[in-house]
Amino acid sequence: MTVEVVILAAGQGTRMRSSLPKVLHQVGGRSMLSHIIDAARTLEPATIRVVVGHGAEAVRASLGAPEVTLVDQPEQLGTGDAVRRAGPGFGQADWVVVLNADVPLLRGTTLRKWVADLSETSADVGILTAHPADPTGYGRILRDEVGGVAGIREEKDATPEERAIGEVFTGIIAVRGPRLGPWLDQLTADNAQGEYYVTDVVGIAAVEGGVHAHGVADATEVQGINDRIHLAAAEAAYQRRVAVDLMAAGVTLRDPERTAVYGRVEPAPDVVVDPDCQFEGDVVLGEGVHIGPGCLLRNCRLKAGAVVEARSHIDGAVVGEGATVGPFARLRSGTVLEEGAKVGNFVETKNAHLHYGVKANHLSYVGDAEVGAGANLGAGTITCNFDGHRKHGTSIGAGAFIGSAVQLVAPITVGEGATIGAGSTITKHAPAHALTLSRARAVTRYDWKRPEQRGPEEPE
Ligand code: UD1
Ligand code: CA
Repeated sequence: MTVEVVILAAGQGTRMRSSLPKVLHQVGGRSMLSHIIDAARTLEPATIRVVVGHGAEAVRASLGAPEVTLVDQPEQLGTGDAVRRAGPGFGQADWVVVLNADVPLLRGTTLRKWVADLSETSADVGILTAHPADPTGYGRILRDEVGGVAGIREEKDATPEERAIGEVFTGIIAVRGPRLGPWLDQLTADNAQGEYYVTDVVGIAAVEGGVHAHGVADATEVQGINDRIHLAAAEAAYQRRVAVDLMAAGVTLRDPERTAVYGRVEPAPDVVVDPDCQFEGDVVLGEGVHIGPGCLLRNCRLKAGAVVEARSHIDGAVVGEGATVGPFARLRSGTVLEEGAKVGNFVETKNAHLHYGVKANHLSYVGDAEVGAGANLGAGTITCNFDGHRKHGTSIGAGAFIGSAVQLVAPITVGEGATIGAGSTITKHAPAHALTLSRARAVTRYDWKRPEQRGPEEPE
């Protein structure tokens, strides 16, 4: 059975009150459109076409998917017109599946099961229906005396009796390829909105071919997003779903309601996540990782047993096995901590490779640096990597000991086992196994007196 998919995304989404096209609003950190494209992919369709109109350029720019074809709907004349715009050569497959782009919670598995059902029906149209708690705004399913689907009535065209129907159209419809074109040609805009409704195809098919209706058990999955209130509800439902998946995979979320995933988290058993953590992009967690409260993790990998203490910020970094980070640490892009490394409070790293067991426990900046195994960076160690124009590297040998408040002016190398005295500003190579320091001599003056302070009761 061959399938083609068309995703309708041309509408303005007026009710979002936004300059951004509705389908680019995000759920779980990804556009609604990318969610529906992912669901569509599970059907392994011959083609995926996305009908764009409002904000077409922005939609085009957002799409990184080469197998998706964009087609234009110059005027938003309705969902029926949108499908017709899907272009020449469209409708060759056994089934054409039409999806609305504003249904971000639709699961690929639901779609696949439904389409598999269609391979056994003699009907020419398949629709997904639902019974949401509140049917307001949806097209209602009209059934005949024997319970067969007779058509779909849009809310704006419905009589009060029809509005009382609880079964609604999800916007998801499949039509046999050869039937689609001729039926779309029969549509008229003779309705309350003056639009060509794809839903009218169902009424035609009821007479000329037969309609197969399939109910979705979980109505939240097919909730259409028309405004920001719907968007927030979808986000909450999505976050709950992600949390459940993570917990099922062995992650303890100490408060699932206070965990936010705007991207993808690859879980592992016995991970513990404290409240108020936010995950963005692709985050990979190893077994037994512990993430303290209030951390932000973006595009990073934490290997087994890594510990991230409270309020840390990890972006584009790899944290090695059993390494510890924070509290209040910031690992920026290109940071690699090897096994057992330790980055403590108020330490910032960028493009820095800290080998096995390196310690940078307090108040440091380590940028464009290679730090050998077992080296110790004292409190306030700063790699001065930027000369105002370019970045320069710092290389610190294994086992080196950098005293507190040291500035290493890059480009610079510190030899293996070298010691740098506290408070030094080092501008040239510090040899291995030797002490290097630069320090002004301290002076003591015994003839000096601290100005006396007047007490409050003394007259001026
Ligand atoms: C549509 C259905 C309704 C269903 C509901 C499910 C029709 C006429 N109505 O209503 O029966 O219950 O979805 O959520 O189909 N679009 C275009 N071009 C257009 C008009 C719309 O591409 O000219 C796109 C929109 O961007 C959107 C989708 O089609 O992604 C649905 O349009 P929308 O206006 O949201 O339809 P609903 O009123 O929700
Ligand atoms: Ca809608």
